[in-house]
Amino acid sequence: MNNQQYDFYYKTNGLIYGLRIMGIIFLLASLVLFFNTWWPYLQILSLPLILLAVNFFIGSIVARKVISPDYMALPFVDLFSSPDGLVLDAGCGAGRVTIEVGKLLKNGQIVALDLFDPKVDSMSGGRDLLEKNLEIAGISNRVRIVQGDVTNMEFEDNNFDSALSALLLNNLGKSKLSGLNELFRVLKEGGKLLGIVPVTGLHTFAVMSVFSLLMTSKPEWRSLFGQAGFKLLEEGDINFGRYFLLEK
Ligand SMILES: C[S@@+](CC[C@H](N)C(=O)[O-])C[C@H]1O[C@@H](n2cnc3c(N)ncnc32)[C@H](O)[C@@H]1O
Repeated sequence: MNNQQYDFYYKTNGLIYGLRIMGIIFLLASLVLFFNTWWPYLQILSLPLILLAVNFFIGSIVARKVISPDYMALPFVDLFSSPDGLVLDAGCGAGRVTIEVGKLLKNGQIVALDLFDPKVDSMSGGRDLLEKNLEIAGISNRVRIVQGDVTNMEFEDNNFDSALSALLLNNLGKSKLSGLNELFRVLKEGGKLLGIVPVTGLHTFAVMSVFSLLMTSKPEWRSLFGQAGFKLLEEGDINFGRYFLLEK
């Protein structure tokens, strides 16, 4: 057994400092309004602002505790059609999910796809880190690493038996549907996709405050999956988000 430690590169300092800065901005704004002399009625706004400031400070503590590899779990769902299938991990990052799939599918082959572009996601850790983690897990020989964009993949149609995508789809901005269309295209008929996305809830509200309300909602996700042609088989809460099991 390999005793080396994985490094999934979940560096949350940027997020934590950002939340603290937001907290300070809202705190200062609430003080300015509270002590303003030009229009006393504005004082009333200092209360919601100070609540938001507290929310951001709490968020910085929650982010440190919650956004850690230990908290990422995969649901026990009927995802793999065979123990030796070909599986796509879209947006694999440093391989946290890839390694879990490798443990489950002893004979399966995995394609680990990521942009590996620090400008897009400073939390991905890069290809070198993925290679190192796969080495530690002892599954390098069963994983093909592909640098690519999920919204425009190099794979042929009907190529994969199953696919996973954890915390990627939510990062695609206006290209969510393009990403889902591509995942649908590369899956075999009857192939399944497990998508995990953060959704508005207590955890995300604790971290992102009112901004969490801007996240794609569960009904919006269901609609996007339907537009891409997927059938929704199952869904539920997991980690700080939601999982969706979809079928082509
Ligand atoms: C939050 S990380 C999640 C990594 C991994 N799935 C996990 O759960 O640990 C999101 C990953 O998606 C990748 N990513 C973002 N946009 C992408 C795109 N258009 N195509 C492929 N990968 C992308 C990022 O580089 C990053 O590694």
